[in-house]
Amino acid sequence: MKYAFITGANKSIGFETARQLLQQGYYVYLGSRSLENGRQAVAQLHAEGLTQVEPVQLDVTDAASVAAARQAIGQKGTGLDVLINNAGVSGALPQTAAATDVATFKEVYDTNVFGVVQTTQAFLDLLRASAEPRIVNVTSGLGSLTLHTDPSWKYYPVKTAAYGSSKAALNMYTIVLAYELRDTPFKVNAVDPGYTATDFNHHSGPGTVPDAAARVVKAAVLAPDGPTGQFFSDDNAPETGISAW
Ligand SMILES: NC(=O)c1ccc[n+]([C@@H]2O[C@H](COP(=O)([O-])OP(=O)(O)OC[C@H]3O[C@@H](n4cnc5c(N)ncnc54)[C@H](OP(=O)(O)O)[C@@H]3O)[C@@H](O)[C@H]2O)c1
Repeated sequence: MKYAFITGANKSIGFETARQLLQQGYYVYLGSRSLENGRQAVAQLHAEGLTQVEPVQLDVTDAASVAAARQAIGQKGTGLDVLINNAGVSGALPQTAAATDVATFKEVYDTNVFGVVQTTQAFLDLLRASAEPRIVNVTSGLGSLTLHTDPSWKYYPVKTAAYGSSKAALNMYTIVLAYELRDTPFKVNAVDPGYTATDFNHHSGPGTVPDAAARVVKAAVLAPDGPTGQFFSDDNAPETGISAW
């Protein structure tokens, strides 16, 4: 059996990612900032007959919480095969480059960048023991330099100084980590789930949560000959050369 840990999995895309991995036979450690919300999410999955799942408290911005989650999962003795850095925040919108205050940048980077870095670094040793370790960083097309310099891209006008740049930083972190792990069995990729109707955007997105989660799951279950160090988005224009899923 393979073991996966998903951050921010109590609802929305993270929760559905947990459900789909469970349906594929994975055991899931369901990360939740609120343990109570995590318990409720797990109870819902149990009610659906998906029982190989348990909640793990995790606030990615809190180093003590990350260390405690690492210790708790380590003590299970199961190892870890998949880490999905899904937890993310947008910060208050709109976010112009000219006027968005530094406090907003810090708040967004705390979760979307520093949270991913400290969670990934904490779990890297456990993942190294897996035969087929996978790290999926849930990013956004709004963090793509390529897409955001293409005036024909459908979301070209959707510029978000703090959120977009945080996901751009996450994309580069993904590339650097994948490079460092290039001679190992690791696959480290950044996946844009697509503009999806969730609490994140007051359910304004056109995409569905199952479709979004399926994109994330695809990178979590990659075969040994699969890609690493890539950015995947289906919200691309074909001429960008960005890989579609
Ligand atoms: N929805 C979209 O259109 C879209 C598009 C592109 C990319 N994404 C990315 O997809 C990911 C999931 O988005 P979503 O739409 O599912 O968002 P969502 O509905 O707002 O859910 C976000 C999840 O992240 C958790 N979270 C936030 N801050 C956290 C922290 N400090 N520590 C741990 N967990 C934290 C939330 O926990 P609480 O319940 O405790 O708040 C929640 O479980 C994000 O990384 C987002 O940037 C979303």
